[in-house]
Amino acid sequence: MANQKDVVLRHSYPARVAHWLTALGFFMVAVSGLGFFFPSLHWLLGIMGTPQLAQFLHPVFGIVMVLGLVVLFLRNAPHCLPEKGDGKWFQHTADILKGNEHHVVEVGHYNPGQKMLFWKIMGLTLLLLITGLIAWRPYFADLFPIPLLRLALVLHSVCGILMMFLVIVHIYMGFWYKGTVRGMLYGTVTRSWAKKHHPRWLRELATKGNKNP
Ligand code: HEM
Repeated sequence: MANQKDVVLRHSYPARVAHWLTALGFFMVAVSGLGFFFPSLHWLLGIMGTPQLAQFLHPVFGIVMVLGLVVLFLRNAPHCLPEKGDGKWFQHTADILKGNEHHVVEVGHYNPGQKMLFWKIMGLTLLLLITGLIAWRPYFADLFPIPLLRLALVLHSVCGILMMFLVIVHIYMGFWYKGTVRGMLYGTVTRSWAKKHHPRWLRELATKGNKNP
């Protein structure tokens, strides 16, 4: 464990609770969603007890995930706006993957890759929410015509699969940048991690203070 003086706060306690509730909600909807979609994976519905319970709990966990993401959206959207230099970062992804990111641009709170992933996750979540509400039996589904219901279910499944790919990339990148996951577990990251991956954020912390970790 790093010395307290060598670490800075990256994610506050409420942000971490929201993040892990999102992850739990996502895991449950992803596993049960795969169980609904692929007949050969029907057995996965056992994660929620029975197929009937899965039908009831799938949207409930979906709402848990959405609520967690609303909190993450409110806290992180200001840090995920496009900035000058983002294009240059994308042009040099090979250098960045080799660990030479500090030669490319001085990265702020989030790097452009994280920002892009953030907006994709938020966009897909909105589509999943709308299509999921339309298809939610017995509450809303009967209010809509059958063709719209079918379209909603197709879109819901496509967005769900895309979201799984994005989350796999997100988790992989979290572990790829060593020292990142500890920020989401304990709240703090080491100064050397921040200096290497988010030097402008570290500099801004010293001048402005960390108002929205
Ligand atoms: C085992 C699963 C997961 C791990 C290990 C993980 C890890 C992380 C880490 C380390 C961060 C902070 C990145 C940083 O400080 O630079 C983060 C942020 C975030 N995570 Fe996750 N995450 C997981 C699951 C998820 C899921 C399922 C979602 C959404 C469906 C999600 C959405 C987000 C969002 C929106 C942020 C804040 C902005 C960003 O970094 O893109 N995470 N996650």
